[in-house]
Amino acid sequence: MSLLTILEFPDPRLRRKAAPVEQVDDALREILDSMIETMYHAKGIGLAATQVNVHKRMLVIDVSEDSSDPMVFVNPEITVLDPEPLGHEEGCLSVPGFYEMVSRPRKVRINALDRRGEPFETEAEGILAVCVQHEIDHLDGKLFVDYVSALKRERIKSKLEKEHRLQKAEASA
Ligand code: NI
Repeated sequence: MSLLTILEFPDPRLRRKAAPVEQVDDALREILDSMIETMYHAKGIGLAATQVNVHKRMLVIDVSEDSSDPMVFVNPEITVLDPEPLGHEEGCLSVPGFYEMVSRPRKVRINALDRRGEPFETEAEGILAVCVQHEIDHLDGKLFVDYVSALKRERIKSKLEKEHRLQKAEASA
């Protein structure tokens, strides 16, 4: 296991559409374990492979209070069970420091493969439903800032770009 680097908005690699996983093997499980470690280290509740520059359809989530319940979803597909919108203040490890209200369907069914490559099905509502939809968006090259106004998105973009320039300058100083 190792800590992976998380790409940050507006990195164009976050816009790539991830390809389906063809085989769940040891190499893939190692990436999944590193993703879980990286998510905990960054104090996140979800991480999509796209965010660590791996363009395969897989994600990890842990919405438990004490980081004790890591969940793995390979090739996740969702079906909306209740379209009634649930508003939730979302953040993202790829958009550090920014939180915006986003509305998403409140209840979904998830079909995916687990870490052994076995298919499973589960229903999600509340924070888990929000999180899984947010992470699947990443696999499609979409970010939560796409749901806010263009003006707000531009503001977030320029603030993060400025921060990235400062970090670069510090690293080379
Ligand atoms: Ni995110």
